[in-house]
Amino acid sequence: MSEHVNITIDDREIKVRPGEKLLWAALENDIYIPHLCAIKEESRPNASCRLCFVEIDGIDYPVAACTRQVEEGMVVKTRSTKVDRLVKTAFELLLSDHNLKCSECPANRNCALQRIAKERGLKLKHNRFKPIGREFELDDSPAEFAFDRSRCVLCGQCIWADRVGAEAWIFGFANRGIDRVVTTFNNLPLAELKCNECTLCVDACPVGALYYKREQKV
Ligand code: SF4
Ligand code: SF4
Ligand code: FES
Repeated sequence: MSEHVNITIDDREIKVRPGEKLLWAALENDIYIPHLCAIKEESRPNASCRLCFVEIDGIDYPVAACTRQVEEGMVVKTRSTKVDRLVKTAFELLLSDHNLKCSECPANRNCALQRIAKERGLKLKHNRFKPIGREFELDDSPAEFAFDRSRCVLCGQCIWADRVGAEAWIFGFANRGIDRVVTTFNNLPLAELKCNECTLCVDACPVGALYYKREQKV
């Protein structure tokens, strides 16, 4: 097999590893594509956040970059009217179920949602879709960190870190559709589970849902 594959993203010719997913090929070459749920080591991405759409020459619908392997000669655009519309809608839907109080949030200025808004010129406020306003109980039972589901974007990064990194199997998804939530085993407080506070889940969280208490603002 050839040592690299030649592709073009946004008119830039780059050489990437054969078999690499388009999202990681772009990011490793400093070409930003919005993303929340992608995990580099995961061979079968669940592509749930719907933020990483790109256009590929020869394909007449936008494609999720986290699911698509690079191919020799592939020509990709990270922006187009169709892509921008899809990303904007996915982003606004995410915000409709998000406790948007950045000034009170431990992730303020270090948040994937803020970065996406900045990179794509999107407004970080409730807009087209009315806030859902789900109410969640804060789990601040661990000594070092807390879990505020009202800021969770359902990316699944904590679940991967917990299962593959810590092998603890404490976190998981529950329910479907609008009721989907990240839950703990039997919905118990973290301190009542076999959590040894390795904090891999906290480090994996791209927003302010899992956060260190020392970084709490209020
Ligand atoms: S997670 Fe990000 S977007 Fe949400 S309140 Fe915190 S800083 Fe703001
Ligand atoms: S708690 Fe954080 S890492 Fe886990 S699913 Fe929610 S946003 Fe993603
Ligand atoms: S990063 Fe591709 S769908 Fe979430």
